[in-house]
Amino acid sequence: MSFRSGRTFAGAAAIAAVCLLGVSIAGGRTTFAQEPPARAQVVEDVFSSVSILRGIPVDNFFETMGMFAAAMGNDCTFCHVKEAYFGAAAFADPTPRIQRARQMIVMMNTVNKTYFGGQSRVTCFTCHGGSNVPKEEPILSLQYGPPVENPNERGFPVYEQESADQVFDRYIAAIGGAERVAALSSFTATGTYQGFDTAFSEVPVELYANAPNQAAMVVQMFNGPSFRSYDGRSGWMAGPDTPVPLLTLTGGNLGRARAQAIVSFPAGIRDAFSQWRVGRTDIDDREVRIVQGSDGEQPLVNLYFERAGLLVRMVTWTGTPAGVVPTQVDYSDYREVAGVMMPFSWTVSQTYMQMTVSLSEVRPNVAIEAARFAQPAPSVPQ
Ligand code: HEC
Ligand code: HEC
Repeated sequence: MSFRSGRTFAGAAAIAAVCLLGVSIAGGRTTFAQEPPARAQVVEDVFSSVSILRGIPVDNFFETMGMFAAAMGNDCTFCHVKEAYFGAAAFADPTPRIQRARQMIVMMNTVNKTYFGGQSRVTCFTCHGGSNVPKEEPILSLQYGPPVENPNERGFPVYEQESADQVFDRYIAAIGGAERVAALSSFTATGTYQGFDTAFSEVPVELYANAPNQAAMVVQMFNGPSFRSYDGRSGWMAGPDTPVPLLTLTGGNLGRARAQAIVSFPAGIRDAFSQWRVGRTDIDDREVRIVQGSDGEQPLVNLYFERAGLLVRMVTWTGTPAGVVPTQVDYSDYREVAGVMMPFSWTVSQTYMQMTVSLSEVRPNVAIEAARFAQPAPSVPQ
């Protein structure tokens, strides 16, 4: 059952990403190409037709659109006109479903304000759950069948038998031991990237990473290089695939860039968050431990470790005006580099995007110039 819905979803998301690509190209043609923004651009700086979802950063707006697509179980053109595939300007064209979705935003906000103290408890997904037609009648097979568990949930019962430290100890031992892990201070890598933005064709990718938390990736898109960097504090994307020439990461997207950089250097992982709690769940019928990191109230990252100790998944979240949206990174193909087992492949799944990086060569402990991790130049319009 989960397989089937997963497939449907992947297909929908693939088309969603093609839409995103459309935005990017046209975004590059608009006027603000040269000036790097001092702050993240907000929606109304960029898009003309937006009347409700204003005042949010552009990266967050796309997460919100991702929530819409995920809630419908469909792609961007479920609401937007098909012409949006070919030119981003068409995303602004009104349709009855866009108008309906605006009413839904107002309805959702009213419900949350009136009955949930303004907290985002009812989201598009709450009712729609991956379908444009929310279910009305109880499903008896759900009631009497085995419970369906979502391993990515932020809330889970604490597993008392093991501490986060114990899980981390097993992890560090599994990947080569504390000494070797601590000796890994940087690496560069080359390999391939494939995603919705390359229509699933493999293109070359370069990676750069510096301990404890700097990372950069350059994807050679068909129409020019795409830069994604995180300097330990701020993160950006700039390329033919971004909706604006320089996309500044905010909120949950920035948190994910940080978390991804941190897991590249496991020596520092347990100091990355002030609080950890452990749970257990299954991924693909294998039992895993969840170690959830937070800096107080809000969970910020779920790390999933298989029984033998390896990190197999990371989940982070982004809060949007339409609810919280997950991003899932699945790690695989562990190989040894300087005595440390590193994942050579990972797949990032988002509500509007999916991509896989597969490395062929990793060079450990090399000097990398600081500029690699700094704010990239805004992409030049094509
Ligand atoms: C459930 C319907 C729905 C889906 C699905 C949807 N959108 Fe939207 N989209 C909207 C609504 C509603 C607005 C206007 C929001 C407002 O007025 O505040 C909008 C506005 C936009 C705009 C602004 C257009 C402009 O130039 O003014 C862009 C770009 C956009 N959407 C992209 C996307 C992308 C990319 C996806 C797929 C990941 C997507 N949308 C999926 C409903 C949807
Ligand atoms: C309280 C439950 C609920 C919530 C929350 C909700 N919806 Fe709906 N939505 C419905 C129902 C019920 C329908 C009507 C389905 C039908 O016509 O068969 C609907 C219809 C729609 C449609 C028209 C679908 C079609 O087939 O044309 C769109 C688009 C839509 N919703 C978008 C959204 C978005 C976007 C959100 C979040 C901002 C949202 N909805 C939140 C219950 C909800």
